[in-house]
Amino acid sequence: MKKDFLKLTDLTRDEITGLLRRAIDLKAGKDASLCPLMGKNIGLFFEKPSTRTRVSFEAGIYQLGGNAICMTPAELQLGRGETMADTARTLSRYLHAIMMRTFSHETIEAFALNSSIPVINGLSDLRHPCQALADAMTLLETKGAVEGLKVAYVGDGNNVCNSLIEAASVLSFNLAIACPEGFEPHTEILEDARAAARSEIVILRDPREAAGMADAVYTDVWVSMGQEDTAEEKKRKFSEYQINARLLSCAKKDVIVLHCLPAHRGEEITDEVMDGPHSAVFDQAENRLHTQKALLELLLSPRQ
Ligand code: CP
Ligand code: NVA
Repeated sequence: MKKDFLKLTDLTRDEITGLLRRAIDLKAGKDASLCPLMGKNIGLFFEKPSTRTRVSFEAGIYQLGGNAICMTPAELQLGRGETMADTARTLSRYLHAIMMRTFSHETIEAFALNSSIPVINGLSDLRHPCQALADAMTLLETKGAVEGLKVAYVGDGNNVCNSLIEAASVLSFNLAIACPEGFEPHTEILEDARAAARSEIVILRDPREAAGMADAVYTDVWVSMGQEDTAEEKKRKFSEYQINARLLSCAKKDVIVLHCLPAHRGEEITDEVMDGPHSAVFDQAENRLHTQKALLELLLSPRQ
């Protein structure tokens, strides 16, 4: 039966820890000559722009011996009214898997329901599970273990935050989220994660309290793709939620700074922090490549 990756919890804790170990091996060049995707076509579907997701998937698929086919709705008959269900039924006949970046999470779910191939969520308005895999790998390679760490997420309770919450629950790291009132993460995702977690996941208002003695401090843009009409309101409400040197001084001495990118320098993060000695943001971006290769292997060519 096909296996989808629409949310982090579609994989078990064991599958995720195995995937992270495999990604670290792939990064070290182990089995670099294996081509588990030889002869396979992987679709990459984008309703929104992308730098990291698009290029890391395309490069990774090539490195694994497969072929990537990029698509946008305007280029497909979707733009002329063909349904997502019929598109899914058709593309399943050509492709071995598809990665999708959509506005609505329901669009990906509808596609997955009507397709016979694995569907990977490459970001929806609700979740960004591929990002969470790279986040966890970055924590693992810099800190040696993920369990028991304290991660502070400062900013909008958005798709990236929702998937980080699911990662905290599955991988047992503590997560302190600081956000303004009205910008909390998704209620059900938070409740489910807390119910399953052995670690602590808390919502705070004070970024300094969240960052206190943190092993990692994470942020994302205040205004996500498709929410541009909220920009002015958010810039006002989030002005105290910037990762800057003062905030970082509350964290542990060896804190790492994470950002899924793209960053709006001078808004949610200063240049000084982004380019400073604690920043792991470009390792985190690189780790998208390694974790997604391990994910494709797991979904399409599981190792015995
Ligand atoms: N972090 C991330 O998903 O980046 P892109 O929007 O560039 O793909
Ligand atoms: N929250 C951001 C993440 C971009 C990778 C967005 O959805 O635009």
